This record gives sequence, structure tokens and C-alpha cells, in this order.
Amino acid sequence: MVVEIEKYDDFGRGICFINNKITFVPNTVPKDKVSIKIEKEYKNYNIARVIKYIKYSKLRVKEKCPYFNKCGGCVLQNIDYETSILYKKEKVINFFKKNKLNINPIVITNPNNYNYRNKINLKVINNQIGYYEEKTHNLILIDSCIIASKVINKGIGLIKDIGIKNGNVTLRSNLNEELLIIINSNDKLDIDIEKIKSKVKLVGIVINDKIYYGEDFLFERLNNLLFKYSYDSFFQINPYIASKLFEIISSYINREDEILDIYCGVGTLSLIAAKKAKRVIGIEIIENAVINANFNAKINGLNNVNFLLNDATKAITKINRSFNKVIVDPPRAGLTKTVIEAIKEIKPKKIIYVSCDFHTLVRDILLLSDIYEIEDAYILDMFSYSYHVETICVLKIH
Ligand SMILES: C[S@@+](CC[C@H](N)C(=O)[O-])C[C@H]1O[C@@H](n2cnc3c(N)ncnc32)[C@H](O)[C@@H]1O
Repeated sequence: MVVEIEKYDDFGRGICFINNKITFVPNTVPKDKVSIKIEKEYKNYNIARVIKYIKYSKLRVKEKCPYFNKCGGCVLQNIDYETSILYKKEKVINFFKKNKLNINPIVITNPNNYNYRNKINLKVINNQIGYYEEKTHNLILIDSCIIASKVINKGIGLIKDIGIKNGNVTLRSNLNEELLIIINSNDKLDIDIEKIKSKVKLVGIVINDKIYYGEDFLFERLNNLLFKYSYDSFFQINPYIASKLFEIISSYINREDEILDIYCGVGTLSLIAAKKAKRVIGIEIIENAVINANFNAKINGLNNVNFLLNDATKAITKINRSFNKVIVDPPRAGLTKTVIEAIKEIKPKKIIYVSCDFHTLVRDILLLSDIYEIEDAYILDMFSYSYHVETICVLKIH
């Protein structure tokens, strides 16, 4: 059967419709004309396989990554960057529209759309290094990652020198091109530190949560603030777009603001806000992140900010102070019902919702919609060439 791929779904998979039934066709891009075979038929959808490409879409470009279509990370690498941005913008707007929410987002693109990632997680199995193929435990062997920073790429080459046979290796870097190596493994390792140091600016090696060499943290300087983050703390994976994100947050902060920053990590958004606001309180569940956040407040000379170590759902019910603005930047799962209800009780004038999953963002906005409406929206290309999008919605009381 010959079909034309209509569009991508929200996860960057080519789709067409056969008798009105959505049909996923892996390895295609919109406007490809392909001959397909339906491999699996389900009640609501089909999965098909390309037998022959009859006409390639004009949107196609040659992907740069040798592991494209294998590791599953950068599904949008075979269309040009501008097209990938249009797709991301459209899918977010359409999903909002489907839920009766209208947005006209400002889109922030990524000027460094390769070598931007400051963190990758690798798997090592029987001395072989790679990524797990998405949703499987098939190891895709790699020796470089085109979206990871240059120093991380050097780090990938060093894993063999470390002598790890089986385990997980996380590589983290900063704009200063320093490298932190985090290993989880049962192997007995005897690492030649000098050899590694001769090749990269090594800050530290952490094995099974213990320092093996050097330090267990990195520093990053962004927007005139210095941030320390420990090996197990969250830090935005794209420093260029993080900086834009911080600028946007800052533009909504005034001198009289009393701000609650829920899911605050090492205090990035809290400190950006504290530079302008009267008072900020951050809530975070990871102990090292809160230790980092307190340290970060100190080294940046900000004494109008406090951090609470707790599960947001528990902490928020105990807070009995008033806030005129609330910032939330939750993990993909979004806000819990308790957090949503507590925010409604606090009833800030504005909620600044930073989200790495617009599906849960929309769900939560709908749950807040009896009091709040969208004032502004932003889409940031934090995760270039993957289907993921960072979205900010600023909500105001209607
Ligand atoms: C997307 S990150 C945002 C961090 C920070 N706003 C930033 O920009 O660096 C989400 C943060 O929420 C924290 N977190 C996850 N679950 C949590 C919970 N139940 N309560 C509080 N914090 C939580 C994570 O540890 C992480 O630091």
C-alpha cells in the first residue's frame, strides 16, 4: 500500500491515516511517499513498516549522527533545524487547542544546536559502551554523541581507559569544559587518573556515591550567578537555553515580590528571582541539591532566600506564609493534586510554570483554570533534535 506521511505525532513518529485509523510508520518524515506493510493492527492504531521509499520528502536533510534511528535520541535530526522548531511549536499549540487553551508562544531557538548537552548517561555491558535503544534493553554501541558537549565526547573515549566492564557511567560537564565522571558498578576499578587528566579537565570521579578522585560537584556561571551542583543534583542540561529561561523568569520578577519556588533544584530560579525580589523560598527533595542551593545563595551574596528540604507535596501543606508569585518547575509527571490545591489556597497573583512535558503542563493548567488563565507562553528549544520541548506558561488570576 502506498501512502504519504501526513505529519509527526507528538513523539516525532511519522503518521498517516488508513481508513481513519492512525498508522505509525517508523523512519519516515512528513511528506515522504512510501510503500508500507502493516505489521501490527490494534483496535485504535496500526504499526507499519516501510517497504520502499517512493519519494523522499523535501523536508529531509542528511542526518549528522552515525547512530541516527538506532539510539532513538534525536528523532528530528533528518529534518532541518527550522522545520524541527516549526513542528515543536505547532504540536504544543495544537495540544493546547485540543484542550480549549489558546496560546501564541514566543519561541526561543538554540543557537548551538549540536554539542549542547552537559550530561549523558551511558551503559557499559561486557566492556561495550552505549545507550539503551529507547524502550528496550538493546545496547546501541556508540563512541560519540553529537548533541553532547565536546568534553563529554572526550569522556566517552576515556571509559575504556577507566577499565569498567559492567555498569552505568554518567558524564557531566560545564561551560568551562570540565568533566565529572559518575560511575555505578560492582567492578573493582583501579583508575589511572593521570592518564585521564592528560586528556581532559577532570574535576572528579564518583563511584557508587563516593568520591574516588577530586570533587563530587561542578560549578556553572550563568546570568552573572555562580551555581554549584553536586553529582546527583539536577542542573538544566542546556546552558545556552537555561540562560534564556533565567532571563524570562527574571522579567516577571519585581522588587516587592514574595516568591515560592517549588521543585527548586540547586536554587537556580530562586536565585534569579532573589536578585530582584523581596523574599524567596525554595522547596526541593534532593538533600545535596538543597545543600548546594544554600551554598549558592551565600556565594552569590543573596540573603533573602531560604530553602526547604522536603517533598513538595508534604512541604506545601505546612507553609503558612503568603506569596504573590509561585514558580513551579516539576519533573515530567507535573504537579500533584495536593500541590495544585495548595497553590490555589495560597492564591498568588501569578504562577510561572516551567515544564519539560507540555502534556502534564496542560493537565495542570486545566486543574488551575477555575482561578487562573494563561497570560504568556514560551517554547524553548532546550532539547534540540529530540521531540522534547521546554515550555513556560505564565498564569494570572482571571
Ligand atoms: C526540572 S527540575 C527543576 C530544578 C530547578 N528549577 C532548575 O531549573 O534547575 C525538577 C526538580 O524537582 C525536584 N523534585 C522532584 N520531585 C520532587 C518532589 N516530590 N518534591 C520536591 N522536589 C522534587 C528534582 O530533584 C529536581 O531538582
